[in-house]
Formats: sequence, C-alpha cells, structure tokens
Amino acid sequence: MKTEILKIDKNNIDLGKIKFAAKVLESGGLVAFPTETVYGLGANALNEEAVKNIFRAKGRPSDNPLIVHIAGIEQINELVREIPYNAHLLMDRLWPGPITFVLRKSLKVPGIITGGLDTVAVRMPNHPIALALIKESGLPIAAPSANISGKPSPTCARHVIEDLSGKVDVIIDGDFANIGLESTVLDLTLEPNMILRPGGITLEDLKREINNVIIDPAIMEQSDINIPKSPGMKYKHYSPKAEVKIVEGSVEKVINKIHDIINEEKARNKKVGVLATDETESMYKNVEIISLGSRQSPETIAAKLFQSLREFDDKGVDIILAEAFENTGIELAIMNRLSKAAGYNIIRIKN
Ligand code: TXA
Ligand code: MG
Repeated sequence: MKTEILKIDKNNIDLGKIKFAAKVLESGGLVAFPTETVYGLGANALNEEAVKNIFRAKGRPSDNPLIVHIAGIEQINELVREIPYNAHLLMDRLWPGPITFVLRKSLKVPGIITGGLDTVAVRMPNHPIALALIKESGLPIAAPSANISGKPSPTCARHVIEDLSGKVDVIIDGDFANIGLESTVLDLTLEPNMILRPGGITLEDLKREINNVIIDPAIMEQSDINIPKSPGMKYKHYSPKAEVKIVEGSVEKVINKIHDIINEEKARNKKVGVLATDETESMYKNVEIISLGSRQSPETIAAKLFQSLREFDDKGVDIILAEAFENTGIELAIMNRLSKAAGYNIIRIKN
C-alpha cells in the first residue's frame, strides 16, 4: 500500500488536506494523525472492517480495546448508554484534553472496539489537527497510538513513518506531540472512580474536581493476581529493542550503582546507554547519555521519554540504564511507562 504523507501546520491548517484525510476515513481507510499526547492511528469507529485494519496494521492483540475520539460533546450521545454526574463535570472541565473516560457503551459501538467489554473509552483530544479531522469526517474515530504494538508510542511523524509506512493510507505530519505520554484513562463506571492508566491529567488534578478517585493498585506492579482493569496495561509495552533497567534510591547511590552496572556490562562487551537528567548528566562518563531534561520540569521529561527510548535503539545500545522518578504527579505516568519498558526490572537501593 502506498502511504500518503500530508504535512499540515497546526497553526495554519490547510483545509484541503484535512478534507482529503477525512474522505479517507469516511471510505474506511486508516489515517495517522497528531494529538497533544501521542500520534494516533485513526479509523471510523462504527466501521468494523476499518477497525480490523487498525489491529492488523499495528499487530495489536484483539482483546485490547480502542479509545474512540470525538470533536464535539454532542458526539458522545450515540456512544454511551448513560452519562453519570462526574462524567458531565469532568468533560466540562477537562475536555478537550489528555484524559479518556470509560463509560457504559451503547449498542451502536461494535464489540471489536471494546474487546467485548460492556464499556467504551472516549476522548476529545486537544489538538487543532485532530479536532479538525474528526469534525470534518463527522465520525467517531477509533485511534490507538500509531506505533507497532509493543513499541514506544510515537511522538512525531517520523516515528509513525518508521512503524507504519506502507501499512496505512495517510500519515499526517503535524509536528511534535507536546505531552509525549498517552492520555490518563479514568473509569467512571466504578465507585470510586479509578485511574486505569496514569497520564497528563494527574490524580492530584482529578482530586481537585471530584471526591472519590483512586488509582488502580495493579498499575505499578507486575503480578498475576492483581490483573489491571485496563486490558492494555497487561502487555509488555513501550519497549525499545534494548533491555531497560531502572535504578531507584538517593541520587549519589543511584549514580554509583549505574557506574557499577556500566562497568559490568562493558566488561561483557555490551553497549550501554544512560537515561539521565540535567542534574546528573555530567556525572556519567564513557557511555551514551541522553538527558530527559530537568527534574524541576517533569513535563519536559515526559515529552522526551518515548523519543529517547527510540533514539537509543537507533544508536544500537544493548542496555539502557534509567534513573527512577517519583510516584506522584506526572512522574507517576513517567515511572509507569518506564517500568513497563523495563519489564518491571527495578533495582531498589536502600538509603
Ligand atoms: O493519548 C491517548 O490516549 C492516545 C491518543 C492517540 O489519543 N491513544 C492511546 O490509545 O493511547 P491506546 O490504544 O494505545 O491505549 C488505549 C488504552 C489501553 O490501555 C486500553 O486497554 C484502554 O485504553 N482501554 C480502552 N478501552 C477500554 C475500556 N473499555 N475499559 C478499560 N480500558 C480501556
Ligand atoms: Mg498504545
């Protein structure tokens, strides 16, 4: 299949190109497009054949449900059976934005979207190109992250082209996705409301809006007993080709431990990369280093994480050593994605 690449300036949208991409969606094709979180791979959510092609292009397990994207609040009515009070409130306050709500699904939503579940995940993205495209198509758009299943989510068009060129009809190149991590997934059918995937909207943000909200305890651990409620969270994910290890503890101890591992791995002829921060970058020697940014600005770190994992793959490193982050705010989302990339290989040093 020939993949058409459409470059669109998000500050000066070319409506002709949007119309072309919307037509492709209307006729059952696949269009990758930017959102504020990561790039998505879109198809008409009400067209089962089109949605099947999403799973095919990504190599995605069919029991992992998709998020349906909308551009206006009126589009939600045909997708869900009821809108609880908290949903009204949160949609009003946080949409368009990096949060997905899980609600009871209507009969109209095909089972292939929801992996056979009785619920559907819905999001209104905060990105001018995504909104223009969805609006122009007039359709609810199913869109998982636009990567090959298991790889880090794409934060720019180049990543999408690497993964999906020749497998989709259109890739819209609309610059960097500025949040860089996928949306928060909040299940509003559960009491208390439960965060199934941490993201750009944090637990602390949600607690300012609603009373009864918790995080799925299964998120930060790998266990067979505690199965995450969001099916996607059970897969090894966000994985670069290299092996990832996270080191957690006080700054000096982490730096020392990372040095020890660098020496061990080098003795075994392995190429090592360190995912550092601006505060520690200069402490590591004779090794490939990427700084994710300053710990003073965790949003910057979030925005660079997936891109940095891919960069280490391009450099051909065998092992990536990462400093740990906190379990609060946006750092919880960073730690969640890193832990999954590491297959939960976390070295905890006692202080
Ligand atoms: O930021 C995002 O959410 C991006 C952009 C493109 O919008 N999309 C995205 O989609 O990350 P995807 O498919 O990569 O992740 C969807 C997550 C998965 O973990 C999936 O299991 C969960 O949402 N999910 C979808 N429907 C669900 C449902 N009905 N109940 C529970 N979890 C659900
Ligand atoms: Mg994904």
